[in-house]
Amino acid sequence: MSIRSVAVVGAGYVGLPVACTFASKGVSTLAVDIDAARVDKINRGISPIEGEEPGLAELISTAVQGGTLIATTDYSRISSADAIIVCVDTPIDEATRRPVLKILRSAVLTAGKHMRRGALVSIESTLPPRTMQDVVIPTLEEASGMKAGRDFLLVHCPERVMPGRLLRNLREYDRVLGGFDDASIEAGRKLYSIIMGGKLHTSDLVHAEISKTLENAYRDVQIAFANEVALACEELGADAYEVRRLVNTCPFRDMHIPGAGVGGHCLPKDSWLFASSLNGFKPTIITSARETNERMPVHMVELVEDALSEAGRKIESSKIAVLGLAFLHDSDDTRHSPALTIIDRLHGHAELVVHDPYVAKEYRAPLVRDLDAAVRGADCLVIVTDHSCYRNLDLHKLKAVMRTPAIVDGRNLLSSEECRGAGFVYRGIGKGMRKGGPTWSEPAECKNKS
Ligand SMILES: NC(=O)c1ccc[n+]([C@@H]2O[C@H](COP(=O)([O-])OP(=O)(O)OC[C@H]3O[C@@H](n4cnc5c(N)ncnc54)[C@H](O)[C@@H]3O)[C@@H](O)[C@H]2O)c1
Repeated sequence: MSIRSVAVVGAGYVGLPVACTFASKGVSTLAVDIDAARVDKINRGISPIEGEEPGLAELISTAVQGGTLIATTDYSRISSADAIIVCVDTPIDEATRRPVLKILRSAVLTAGKHMRRGALVSIESTLPPRTMQDVVIPTLEEASGMKAGRDFLLVHCPERVMPGRLLRNLREYDRVLGGFDDASIEAGRKLYSIIMGGKLHTSDLVHAEISKTLENAYRDVQIAFANEVALACEELGADAYEVRRLVNTCPFRDMHIPGAGVGGHCLPKDSWLFASSLNGFKPTIITSARETNERMPVHMVELVEDALSEAGRKIESSKIAVLGLAFLHDSDDTRHSPALTIIDRLHGHAELVVHDPYVAKEYRAPLVRDLDAAVRGADCLVIVTDHSCYRNLDLHKLKAVMRTPAIVDGRNLLSSEECRGAGFVYRGIGKGMRKGGPTWSEPAECKNKS
């Protein structure tokens, strides 16, 4: 098949970069989204994604001006597309940790009603294993009155993008593509060869589903290991970053960086998407890793209480400045951000102010763009996100404007020695404080430079 036109269903963090990358290659591209305001913004050549997203704003503007990218809420326009790429959200229910597939069902159902015979459908959304077989195929066949393999081609090609590197990962990373049959795999190869620089590793549908959820579960487990080391080091009066440096001198070891919690759209949910597909066997390492990582923001609040107590203050009469609402450095993405849990826990107990240079929407507390205004009069700074602007905080200036000099560092951005030297009460994830023990001098390489 030749691919002259594509329709991308869902123009979010994944779909929008996918759409404008195809458009930038001269493919006539339709970005279909139910969010009319988003569609309008894209059609005006403006990126709806804030944060540092190299190249994205320019690509959208050029593609819209050049006429290769059009956004729409009108599904009927996908009837002319050679390929339909579905990139809608596949979240979990926070209370039950079960997948919520109604968005996917609805997008696939409507796409199925309008797609043309012979089209290739690629599902890029992350799926609980067996969703292609149990949900996508029956929904598409019912809506279209056509048969997969006979009347249309079908692949699952999960995404590997992340905020801050959306275009780069899309262009450079290898990807996995699972096909319904050989013809679908062949068509999928043609489609993705238009935009990909990395290799395409082909398999069947279920292996693509399992490998996507597990590549994220794997990373979550590695981070949970680092977080367990951090909690242990706090009790042992040691520094987890020094331990990490030493552990990683051993061949075949690659201990991750601990922190205030794991956020973002994918890692906090994909382990649950994977586990949800199992009825008999119950994975334990994957799910307990998830629980360890979910506890880290709660532990941040414990450190805040501890720091304030050492500083002689009660939480109820304190003003706490939360630095960073986004889950990732220099991004506007707040989905599952550890900051949300920290704010939930402190809300109603302390006076809260939140600083984030990229996020536009407030969450339960005043959001301030000016860092000086946020820290003025505060009794404790809580560093949740490693935004670039927090990397070179001037401790002396901070101390002069804060009411109480206390810092909780969830990202190892500050040296505990320097903070204490400047008169701060300091707590940090993985930074044990051995009372009366020998002081340990942090080598520069232990500071978080990621
Ligand atoms: N965000 C990431 O970095 C990332 C990385 C890899 C994989 N993924 C996976 O990709 C999928 C999409 O994630 P995302 O971050 O882009 O989500 P998102 O919420 O940013 O984007 C989804 C878009 O789909 C639109 N939408 C919802 N229902 C629709 C419908 N019926 N028809 C058309 N549009 C509809 C929404 O308005 C939104 O703009 C998820 O399965 C996610 O797990 C995300």
